[in-house]
Amino acid sequence: MIRGVIFDLDGVITDTAVYHYQSWRRIATEVNFDLTEEHNEQLKGVSRAESLDRILGWANALRTEEEKAKLLVQKNEHYLTLIESLNDKDILPGIVAFLENIRSAGIKTAVGSSSKNAHFILNKLRLIDSFDAVVDGNMVKQTKPDPEVFILAAQLLGLQQQECIVVEDAEAGVLAAKAAGMKVLGITAHGQLHQADLCTHNLLEKDAQFIQQFFS
Ligand code: BG6
Ligand code: MG
Repeated sequence: MIRGVIFDLDGVITDTAVYHYQSWRRIATEVNFDLTEEHNEQLKGVSRAESLDRILGWANALRTEEEKAKLLVQKNEHYLTLIESLNDKDILPGIVAFLENIRSAGIKTAVGSSSKNAHFILNKLRLIDSFDAVVDGNMVKQTKPDPEVFILAAQLLGLQQQECIVVEDAEAGVLAAKAAGMKVLGITAHGQLHQADLCTHNLLEKDAQFIQQFFS
């Protein structure tokens, strides 16, 4: 019996994934690396610090801890300028109605995000009150694909892990949810989330099928 839905934030609730990519691309040029969209797929859902380590690894670039800390600040400052004007018009299609539908059916809702900016973004989107719990990158030690973020979200909802499903756009997030024993609805334009139980372009398109498969 499904009693909770845990949403990833970036790329699921709002399209901030593109701004993360733009700001990582800029950091990558500082180490003479051309960050392609294929590389970027491997950064989705992954924490800021782990993302930088992956980029430095691909670029074969060594940096001291102090230099890395500066790059992380630079990345976040650029990212924050890109999302400065983010507002409720930037909520992805279907999200608001979907949240209303499941909440009125008694389903609990949470956000499970690797982002340390998650609360800030949810406030900008005026969505913070639509969730019973919000777990962000400041509240966990391990990054996705580790299940910690989703396990904590289920705990805060007061639910068993298997009573929750996860909505995710990233391979790392899908693996994290599966490791927590949760079913996954993958949001993807390209159909590349192989381990998800069901994939859709957005929550509008397959709403009926989704409810049938996950809530019955
Ligand atoms: C995830 C994004 O939600 O959060 C990643 O998919 C991002 O791309 C990560 O790197 C950390 O975000 P932030 O806002 O803490 O830099
Ligand atoms: Mg995401």
